[in-house]
Amino acid sequence: MDGRPRQNPAYRRARHLWAGNCDTSTVLPGPPSNLTHPWGNSETPYDEIGGDPSVRTLVENFYDIIEDESPVLRKMLPADTSGSRQKLYEYLSGWLGGPPLYAEKRGHPKLRMRHLPFAIGDAEAEEWMRCMSKAMTTSGVEAPLSAFLGQKLADLALHMRNQS
Ligand code: HEM
Repeated sequence: MDGRPRQNPAYRRARHLWAGNCDTSTVLPGPPSNLTHPWGNSETPYDEIGGDPSVRTLVENFYDIIEDESPVLRKMLPADTSGSRQKLYEYLSGWLGGPPLYAEKRGHPKLRMRHLPFAIGDAEAEEWMRCMSKAMTTSGVEAPLSAFLGQKLADLALHMRNQS
């Protein structure tokens, strides 16, 4: 954590976004569970994953996996991926319901627009998800959070497609 007060209005908005947007039935089919949220019992996915250090670890593992084993994604990135790592870390911090670091620093993410310079079809979106799923496993993200994030991130990755 960075000591930012939880009373921060942007933080509260992000938290309510999560609280309002979850459909437990599509994430956790089957008998009702005793979870207060589809991602677990913490107030936000950000808290559930373990806060700032865990978001950082997830992103570092994700980019390490891309650099080690994903030529398709690697070739889209700059030689030095430290800036790419920093931007995804900041984005995920807010997206998960934590401090909105990306928005504070860079404004509205306009994520789909920012991906238009890169040719993204089914194969690239699926490869992105494969690397992210592996990164979640490597980082120790467990069910139900892993299932919840897997679904939400897959939706987002598919939304980034700009090629058939
Ligand atoms: C669908 C497959 C995807 C591909 C192939 C892809 C690829 C890329 C590439 C090549 C960049 C530029 C990196 C740089 O400038 O250093 C980028 C930036 C970024 N991507 Fe993705 N991405 C994908 C999906 C996603 C998803 C699902 C998210 C959100 C969870 C995301 C979040 C970001 C962010 C925050 C940036 C930085 C934007 C900026 O400020 O320039 N990407 N992505």
